Amino acid sequence: MHPRFFLRTVAATWRRHGLWAACQVGLEQLLNGLMFFERLHIIEMQRPQAFDALASGAAPAAAVMAAGAGPDTQVADEATLRRLQREGGWGIDDTKLALLRAGDTCLLSLVDGCIAGYTWVHTGGRPEIMPGLRLQLPAGALYNFAGFTHPDFRGAGLQSRRHQSVWTQPAWAHLGHMLGYVKATNFASRQGQGRSGYRRIGSVVLVGSRQRFVAWLSPALRRSGVRRLEEPSHIVSRAWALLKRQAQAAWVGMLSHTLGPWLHSRLRRRSQRSDTHSYTCFHRAPTQLAALTGPVLAHLGLDRVPGGAQGQPLRVLLYACSNGAEAYTWSAWLALQRPDLEVVIEASDLSPELISRARAGRYTWSELTQDGEVPAWLVAQTFDREGEDYVVNERTRRRVSFSCADIIRDDLRARYGQADVVVAQNVLFHLPPPLARRAFDNVVRTLAPTAALFIEGMDQDLRVSLTQAHELQPLVWRSREIYEESRRHIPARWWQFHYGAEPWLPFRRAPWRRYGTIFLKGPAPVSVRVLALAA
Ligand SMILES: C[S@@+](CC[C@H](N)C(=O)[O-])C[C@H]1O[C@@H](n2cnc3c(N)ncnc32)[C@H](O)[C@@H]1O
Repeated sequence: MHPRFFLRTVAATWRRHGLWAACQVGLEQLLNGLMFFERLHIIEMQRPQAFDALASGAAPAAAVMAAGAGPDTQVADEATLRRLQREGGWGIDDTKLALLRAGDTCLLSLVDGCIAGYTWVHTGGRPEIMPGLRLQLPAGALYNFAGFTHPDFRGAGLQSRRHQSVWTQPAWAHLGHMLGYVKATNFASRQGQGRSGYRRIGSVVLVGSRQRFVAWLSPALRRSGVRRLEEPSHIVSRAWALLKRQAQAAWVGMLSHTLGPWLHSRLRRRSQRSDTHSYTCFHRAPTQLAALTGPVLAHLGLDRVPGGAQGQPLRVLLYACSNGAEAYTWSAWLALQRPDLEVVIEASDLSPELISRARAGRYTWSELTQDGEVPAWLVAQTFDREGEDYVVNERTRRRVSFSCADIIRDDLRARYGQADVVVAQNVLFHLPPPLARRAFDNVVRTLAPTAALFIEGMDQDLRVSLTQAHELQPLVWRSREIYEESRRHIPARWWQFHYGAEPWLPFRRAPWRRYGTIFLKGPAPVSVRVLALAA
């Protein structure tokens, strides 16, 4: 809402209805700038005593009408309403005609034989107050809605007379009260309803959007027997959607654990692989990072114990680094967790284009988050803002260098030597098995005698055989959690993708090796073995 209009509305309400009313209007307007917010007062009129005689049959209708409700009110038929619809200006539309056909009643006010206004009455006990809000009324209640008085006849109390005449209808003689609603901030209408004899019995608060909202019914309203009714089609469609989701999840889960591995190995034998998959993201494997600064550094003798590290740098070779997200995440994490440690990360990738993007270290917010979430510490620790871009800061960039390397064809050992930690993640599953085997051997040759290999995203059968052949030990510490984390980026029907990964199936041979993503080379210190036991 435009601020000027907002101020004008609030000021006008203050002038006419006082400060408290103006505050309510102002607050509601502000809330409605953020979401759909509505407060309705549910009001009730009791059958006046003068009409009790009619209800009990002790007095004829004519006598009662003379007591208050005049014969100037009559029930509208469809032809009359169609005529008013044709004339226009009466607010009669197809929806109202449909309500008439559904059993609602329109009472017309007549002045000197002319139609002067109308009011609608619902007797079914389940009125739709507004689109999406249907209420169940207590037994014996009418519901009055959509009152209208033609401008030529306003001010003559016709609405009030129509309300009174409701009680003269013989068909409704057994009904004891009539409900309606008024918007809480419609102070003029509230006053009018009060004059008609209505009193408030409770409130409904609606919060959400116009299409979907939550309705909160005040305790007083509930005590009086009013309930919200879900639209049957709404309930059915929601229940159906839920059922479908559950059935799909159960079906996918069942396939995952039974035929999935077989379907997947069949697919892998037939599918074409490509080395152009470059999906990556910052903070892709948070529990792996915890393992790095926990048991992995302990295995390398770089844990934070007196005498640990001792100025010895941590050298990391990170292959298939894509746009640099993984390398920068590692650098930022190590700087945060182990500022005492000198860290050298040599990252490489097959694609020169990705390497130049990695070197630039400049990302948009959507590249940085991949439309998911990244922790605040990572953004604060790693980036400087330059306009709309996030640029890797000097302190993070300083420890990382980038070059082009092919893990299949290059002699990595000759080129990079050996490192404490070697990382080749989410690349081997994009290679055909013979090439993946070659690349694995090539990568493993760059492990120092005591080292750790991070190898998320490779064929599980290959992982078992190759890690065994190279005498690498799986790190058991939180390995199931790490594995499940790595599957977050894989579609639920994983067996339909060559890079899919089965769920952790404990009955598989050597599960730690099969699903492990971190492997240790060299004798593990006691602390790492204890951690493995505690996992
Ligand atoms: C899916 S990305 C993985 C990026 C990152 N390691 C991660 O886990 O988020 C795979 C990367 O492997 C690279 N790649 C493919 N074949 C390669 C090869 N033979 N040698 C080196 N890198 C390769 C691609 O260029 C791509 O950047």
